[in-house]
Amino acid sequence: MRDAVILEARNLTKRYRLGTRDVDALRGVSLQVRRGEFVALMGPSGSGKSTLLQLLGGLDRPTSGEVVLDGEVVSHLSDAEATRLRREKTGFVFQFFNLIPLLDVYENVALPYTIAGVDPRHGDAADRIREVLELVDLQGRERNRPDQLSAGEQQRVALARALVAKPAILLADEPTGNLDYATGGEILDELWHSCDALGQTIVLVTHDARAAAHADRVLVVGDGKIRDEIELGRRSTNRDAGPLIARLAQLGL
Ligand SMILES: Nc1ncnc2c1ncn2[C@@H]1O[C@H](COP(=O)(O)OP(=O)(O)OP(=O)(O)O)[C@@H](O)[C@H]1O
Ligand SMILES: [Mg+2]
Repeated sequence: MRDAVILEARNLTKRYRLGTRDVDALRGVSLQVRRGEFVALMGPSGSGKSTLLQLLGGLDRPTSGEVVLDGEVVSHLSDAEATRLRREKTGFVFQFFNLIPLLDVYENVALPYTIAGVDPRHGDAADRIREVLELVDLQGRERNRPDQLSAGEQQRVALARALVAKPAILLADEPTGNLDYATGGEILDELWHSCDALGQTIVLVTHDARAAAHADRVLVVGDGKIRDEIELGRRSTNRDAGPLIARLAQLGL
């Protein structure tokens, strides 16, 4: 069911208290993401992209409005239930890879299983870990620690960890922001492959038009709202980012 809505935001607002000042990071955001879709969020620094991604993934709660993730209204859940939903349904990748330095590659990727109390060395868990390590091309590196890997390899570990539990939705916040052009390209290829070949639903926050050009649809965030929507359609192989760059320039981005 490719067209089923898997993630929905209904009129989300988020107000942060900063000392004596209120910051309205989101001012009423509504959006829908369909199963298997690749959506990019772009917009200026401070426009609310990371805040939105955190609310979509249940890492934080909105001030008002609702997030519906795979049929469950996140705001109706207790903290414990929201944590369970987040663990079962979402995978996160961030700009800084957030790996645990003392754990090796295998143990880092296995973390979602370990947290859930499942032995990651045997059975289906071990099969799945092998599968995602292959997906990100890191087989043979299982015993390396993060400091023995390049930045791109570390991000591939983070991606494997985010995908290992087959999340309904993968949320990525500037996953190429700390990588050089070529290495960033590899991560984008992995993301694209997981979407196109494996049907992974993805929401990607990025400043990079080349990254956004992988998406089916680009949502432009400005001052806490969705300001524009650019429908790109399914990317075939190497989409030329030129038209998207031109369009973003028209929007002043
Ligand atoms: N924990 C917080 N406490 C107070 N204000 C915050 C907090 N997190 C974000 N903000 C504010 O909310 C607004 C939106 O921030 P957000 O991090 O969502 O922007 P962004 O679009 O991700 O920016 P960037 O592209 O720089 O990552 C900004 O004004 C920011 O200063
Ligand atoms: Mg951000």
